[in-house]
Amino acid sequence: MIQLYNRDIISAMDFDRETLDYLFIEAEKIRQELSTKKILDYCKDKIMTTVFLEPSTRTRLSFQFAMTRLGGLVIDFGLEQAASIAKGESFEDTIKMVDGYKPDIIVLRHREPGSARKAAEIASTPVINAGDGWNEHPTQALLDLYTIWREFKRIDNITLGIIGDLRYGRTPSSLSYAISKYRNVKIYYIAPKELQIRREVLEKIDKLIEWKMVERVEEVIEELDVLYVTRLQKERFTDPLEYEKLKGSYNITLDLLKKFRKIPIIMHPLPRVDELSQDIDSLPQAKYFEQAENGVYIRAALIKSILTR
Ligand code: NCD
Repeated sequence: MIQLYNRDIISAMDFDRETLDYLFIEAEKIRQELSTKKILDYCKDKIMTTVFLEPSTRTRLSFQFAMTRLGGLVIDFGLEQAASIAKGESFEDTIKMVDGYKPDIIVLRHREPGSARKAAEIASTPVINAGDGWNEHPTQALLDLYTIWREFKRIDNITLGIIGDLRYGRTPSSLSYAISKYRNVKIYYIAPKELQIRREVLEKIDKLIEWKMVERVEEVIEELDVLYVTRLQKERFTDPLEYEKLKGSYNITLDLLKKFRKIPIIMHPLPRVDELSQDIDSLPQAKYFEQAENGVYIRAALIKSILTR
């Protein structure tokens, strides 16, 4: 198991399976404790700073809820437009300054791939990567795997389909890295050619798990235990025409799912746009809201492990 105490969390590749399993059990314990108490005291003299320089709803809120539930304090950096970055302050200076206030942990989201690693090099405080551009989102991978683990009581032998914008998405890459630590896992990457998974992701998982690229979900759906849907990452397209061309190129609807004998559980990191129809929400297989809720417990487990011995 890796040492989590005082550690930066930059990539989902950094976890090993013992650490992942440990975090799932810790998350279950915290969930249990929070069923009778609103606020615990594991982090009661600790301070978290959340620095989100790209839009976020769930990730920021669930980090803030997790730290508050652990009894810690949260100071939010606020909106980029309102901060000195808007006056031209560099990323390095911003991180140095935040670090200088001596929080116990910094949670960072930034549009530049590699920014979390850069921040970790600058800051003496542990940094958690809450999304660095299209690159990675390791704590999303934690809550994704935690959701699968709760559902199937295992992660070994899972067949996972990831559909959507695998090129610009950071959740498909981090999920692939984290799940590659388990045995006999197979991933189908389901996307039009223009949106297929990045080569660097395949290079990292190639020796660890089986994977295959397909264009249409219908080809593989009955083989899947989990279908993980992602939205087109509009904000990362440099060519608006390309975005328009690909918009609506995949769409999971109730009518589509009903055609098959077996419906896998459906996950989505959210927010959804038009790739996942609302008529699926009432299916027992729809797990995305539960998945978002799980984020609080697994992030609490991670924060507690980084901040306490
Ligand atoms: C994801 C992200 O930010 O990468 N959202 C999230 O953290 N739940 C997915 C997305 O924005 O499409």
